[in-house]
Amino acid sequence: MLKDAYQPAEIEPVIVCRGERFRLYLDEPTILHRVQELGEAISRDYPDEPPILIGVLNGAFIFLADLMRYITVDCEVDFLKLSSYGAAKVSSGRVYELKKIDADIRNRHVIVVEDIVDTGLSMEYILNRLKAYEPKSLRVATLLHKYEATRVDLPLDYVGFRVPNLFVIGYGLDYGQLGRNLRSIYILDEACTDGDDQAKGSK
Ligand code: IMP
Ligand code: MG
Repeated sequence: MLKDAYQPAEIEPVIVCRGERFRLYLDEPTILHRVQELGEAISRDYPDEPPILIGVLNGAFIFLADLMRYITVDCEVDFLKLSSYGAAKVSSGRVYELKKIDADIRNRHVIVVEDIVDTGLSMEYILNRLKAYEPKSLRVATLLHKYEATRVDLPLDYVGFRVPNLFVIGYGLDYGQLGRNLRSIYILDEACTDGDDQAKGSK
């Protein structure tokens, strides 16, 4: 029945998004295997009190949905939203809050769930905002870490994959709002860029 009808999606090795070529970087089974490991680690670390996962919209919604289902202890969820890159591929470094959390996190265990830490400025801003509510503990789970680009010292407690300083899309991550629905993660094909990324992002 349903089980028999299920067909794994075909994985394209190269895709084009908004006219730019991206190549397969992390396929769906690889991502899910790692997300499961992170879920298991979180389950071990919070045996007594349910943590609140705070997803950073929009990019983290798919990672959060999978991560949460691999967590086997009680947990809650809430969301916040920051200003975005627009259609640029390089972080502007300017951040502001578009949607605040609804949950009361005072004296609660909090895990911020992000799709990617790039410069780290968004996460630094988020952690500073959330600290003001005096949570019992504050940790970070990020699927990807562009470690060469990170400019601030951050406590990244759960990291899925360390990735090079190149633009990635898929599994929630977008390029100008497109690409989030790709089941795998794709990386900008360097051989096909014109070296003009910095200009595009620094407006
Ligand atoms: P940061 O403030 O520079 O660390 O940027 C973090 C945010 O920028 C992430 O939450 C993403 O939404 C977005 N971002 C950074 N790098 C990428 C990327 O390679 N692809 C898609 N979005 C990205
Ligand atoms: Mg994001």
